Amino acid sequence: MKINKICCIGAGYVGGPTMAVIAKKNPNIEVTIVDINAERIAAWNDEDVSKLPIYEPGLAEIVAETRGRNLFFSTEIDKAIKESEMIFISVNTPTKTYGKGKGMAADLKYVELCARNIAEVATTDKIVVEKSTLPVRTAQAIKSILHNTGSDVNFEILSNPEFLAEGTAIQDLLHPDRVLIGGESESAIESLANIYGSWVNQDKILRTNVWSSELSKLTANAFLAQRISSINAISELCEHTEADVTEVARAIGMDSRIGSKFLNASIGFGGSCFQKDILNLVYIARSYGLNAVADYWEQVIILNDHQKRRFSDNLISALYNTVSGKKIAMLGWAFKKDTNDTRESAAIYVADHLLSEQANIAVYDPKVPAKKVYADLNYLETRSDSKNKDLVSTYNDPYDAVKDAHAIAIMTEWDEFKSYNWKRIFDSMKKPAFIFDGRNILDKNEIEKIGFEYSSIGK
Ligand code: NAD
Ligand code: UGA
Repeated sequence: MKINKICCIGAGYVGGPTMAVIAKKNPNIEVTIVDINAERIAAWNDEDVSKLPIYEPGLAEIVAETRGRNLFFSTEIDKAIKESEMIFISVNTPTKTYGKGKGMAADLKYVELCARNIAEVATTDKIVVEKSTLPVRTAQAIKSILHNTGSDVNFEILSNPEFLAEGTAIQDLLHPDRVLIGGESESAIESLANIYGSWVNQDKILRTNVWSSELSKLTANAFLAQRISSINAISELCEHTEADVTEVARAIGMDSRIGSKFLNASIGFGGSCFQKDILNLVYIARSYGLNAVADYWEQVIILNDHQKRRFSDNLISALYNTVSGKKIAMLGWAFKKDTNDTRESAAIYVADHLLSEQANIAVYDPKVPAKKVYADLNYLETRSDSKNKDLVSTYNDPYDAVKDAHAIAIMTEWDEFKSYNWKRIFDSMKKPAFIFDGRNILDKNEIEKIGFEYSSIGK
């Protein structure tokens, strides 16, 4: 099938950047991204590209180049579905918060709504591409909905999971390690492979069956998260044995069978996907009665929760076992640097724990607005909105945030934190001035020379 028009349902962290790059590299294809969230679409259409709803290095430039040329953002979902030959489903698939599988299974209601929407309005043949991360065998459900419309419209279903990481999304999309396409129909697979072929070598475009493709995505995230939990487990052992986790990571990472990436010990991984996808994997394994498999992967999450809790427990015990009424400045709220995304950020959980111990929290993050910080805390429902507002303040200037603080907790590895005037910060804080470096980004010797009480992860 010759693809002239693409529709992408879901203008989020995946749909936006992915389609922007597809549009950039395929100027002859018209790409329309649709969403039910009118506010989000309006932000994507904002003339000032610095106001896009998603912050990703390099994204604004690509949107400025392609928007209005062959990239469009719209709330007219039915129209975009009708007019396109290929439809990407790129909606959220969060962990279920109700009913069977609550807290474990992926909530597929948004994906199913998309499938039903497509089934209802399509009058010509379509290739439907699962871009969202989905449990293995979801394509079966989508197929069943699309094939029972009673019309003679033909639908081909492909799985094309996305492997981009936030903060490096544009580089990941421009230079992917691989593109994965799972499907039954060779011609549908080739239609999609041609689109990626505009900039990705064919030998990097893997073709598999649908189920392998769906399961590979969950497996990739599980393996990546497992590495972090593995090094974080070792970080705790380092703290008891005078080993240094950075040295250990370097030593093992030079073994080419292990590799050096994803071995940074931290306050624990965050982000919208690692936890959700592993919980989903655990749920699927249990639903097949594979309890040993489920228990094995669940441990990655258990260790991650332990690491977050351990960080706040250590902070409290260093501050003479009480943080009540003390000002703790948190540098960073995003789940990693170079993104404004805070979903499942470790900072939220650490803050919540400290707030329950009656701390006053001062937050500074270069890209996260105040309303997001409060929304994240309110979502946990540990205390009222007004109590959160009483105890938490947010700042636009890091030097204001740390003034008179008893301690600083570094939650995100933003580059700018490394080049702050730490002497000036020390002078403005209460003494002894503590730093808890949850990302191991500061130079211990220099920081201690200034006079700080410094602790980091795994040292
Ligand atoms: P997101 O929440 O940022 O965006 C999803 C968008 O879909 C929202 O704007 C929402 O309004 C919209 N939407 C939901 N239902 C809709 C409907 N019926 N019709 C139209 N629009 C609808 O989510 P995201 O981070 O982009 O993730 C999307 C999927 O991609 C998830 O399955 C996720 O697991 C996967 N994924 C995410 C990343 C990442 O880095 N965020 C990377 C790889 C894969
Ligand atoms: C992750 C995967 O890396 C992507 O391949 C995948 O597409 C995506 O999930 C997804 O499916 O959503 P992302 O969560 O955006 O991407 O970012 P990562 O770079 O993987 O970081 C995740 C978390 O792990 C962050 O909190 C980060 O700080 C933490 N991390 C990462 C560590 O603590 N140590 C490390 O060595 C690496």
